[in-house]
Amino acid sequence: MNEVDDAREGESDDAPYGILVVDDEPGILESLELTLASEYRVFTASTGEEALAILEQEKIALIIVDQVMPGMTGVEILERVSERSPRTIRMLLTGYADMDSLVRAINEGRIYRYLPKPWEPDELRMDVRRALDAYRLAWENTQLAGALADANARLRAENVYLRGEVEGRYSFDGVIGDSPAMQRVFDVMKKVSETDATVLLTGETGTGKDVIAKTVHYVGPRKDKRFVAQNCGALPDTLLESELFGHKRGAFTGAHADKQGLFEVADGGTIFLDEIGETEPGMQVRLLRVLQDGEIRPLGSSETHKVDVRVIAATNKDLEQAVEDGRFREDLYYRLRVVEIEVPPLRVRREDIPALAHHFLDRVSERMNRKLAGFTNAAMDRLTDCQWPGNVRELENEIERVAALAGDERVVGVEMLSEHVRGGASRGGASSFTPAVSGEGNMADAVEALKRHMIVGALRETGNKTRAAEHLGIPRQSLQKMIKRLEISDDELSAE
Ligand SMILES: Nc1ncnc2c1ncn2[C@@H]1O[C@H](COP(=O)(O)OP(=O)(O)OP(=O)(O)O)[C@@H](O)[C@H]1O
Ligand SMILES: [Mg+2]
Repeated sequence: MNEVDDAREGESDDAPYGILVVDDEPGILESLELTLASEYRVFTASTGEEALAILEQEKIALIIVDQVMPGMTGVEILERVSERSPRTIRMLLTGYADMDSLVRAINEGRIYRYLPKPWEPDELRMDVRRALDAYRLAWENTQLAGALADANARLRAENVYLRGEVEGRYSFDGVIGDSPAMQRVFDVMKKVSETDATVLLTGETGTGKDVIAKTVHYVGPRKDKRFVAQNCGALPDTLLESELFGHKRGAFTGAHADKQGLFEVADGGTIFLDEIGETEPGMQVRLLRVLQDGEIRPLGSSETHKVDVRVIAATNKDLEQAVEDGRFREDLYYRLRVVEIEVPPLRVRREDIPALAHHFLDRVSERMNRKLAGFTNAAMDRLTDCQWPGNVRELENEIERVAALAGDERVVGVEMLSEHVRGGASRGGASSFTPAVSGEGNMADAVEALKRHMIVGALRETGNKTRAAEHLGIPRQSLQKMIKRLEISDDELSAE
């Protein structure tokens, strides 16, 4: 079935999501079914074979498999599932014993998340809800692609062409971005890389403008020629002029020999003018001339000559505002933004955070010779919740920091993250409670203690249950139930 048919099939389908639960213990199947059956269509299977058979018959959005089973292990089952039904979200139910295979499975993308055993029903429901959100998003993307394909199909009855367009999700080596926001960027990058059009990259610091500039060059027809970059904010005007356009011997004190400028070095290739908003008026005029006529004149020379250079410029400033304030030439602005690519901040594409985090962790683990191969659920939640004002660069630095300070841990836990990532800069505002729980003793008790600690902290801080529940990221009813079960008293809440 191709993607378009698949999307159409989904359109008429507003039945509840199908969830398949696989475990050889009837008791576990039963309690998972109880937890989920009110909201979803739940199917159960006690062996891998049975599960795969159900998968053939039913539309399954999410599959939850126990890791330890006779016959195929959970990971093996999920591997088969990912081949047969790639869009089904895969979760693994597991105790802590099999951390190794677990981490491997997460990193190889075979599973979306693991559910610890024993589980807390409310937490499980929430994980399931999140997973299904991800499923829905992925499905909506396909549906959009499907709609696009339909429109195209009417225009040109060229099936072969279409299939390529619809199925090809854009990807560039080493540039991560499955989020719709980044896919839109990739879409423009792909188109523009085949042309010589001048590109203006805008976006906050650390969003990936450098990476995008390089990629546009290296996937385009100029890839065999040079890509040169110059930060226009780093040098005083005259030096910048000499860097970009070159100079003749004797053009200024210290110019002992002729020097080739970067525009000449990049002839046939691409020049990347970073921080273009920092250029002074004189430089702006000279840049305008190159863009208009393709001509440069080295400092101290009376002759101009032609160059064939593709220009990509970038800024993290508001250039339009700079034009309005008279700090940036309007004509240059329009020459630069023939194609403008706005690189979105990381906080509007949080879906990309897990893949980015894994990417950076793999890279740095190898470089620093660490065993780190993944993140705990909680740590990943913190990373995804963080605001990241420094965007991808800040995330990258965080992961490097974690790796640098790590010992022989295999997974990154919350306690290894920096203070502000752990709580301070989260979406819901500052959180001041850092649970102090020792790593010893019975785990169930420790978990209870941690819950109590967080709940009391949130209630004290917010002063009401609705806000506390929001703060904790759980439904209000669950909070209510936990307060009751943990016997948290009003006295405890007012005590300091
Ligand atoms: N989509 C991405 N996939 C992988 N790595 C990325 C991505 N975006 C950014 N990075 C990494 O994040 C870091 C910051 O990116 P980059 O230098 O391109 O940002 P920038 O927008 O140019 O920032 P500034 O405005 O401060 O110059 C780099 O190390 C880059 O490799
Ligand atoms: Mg940059």
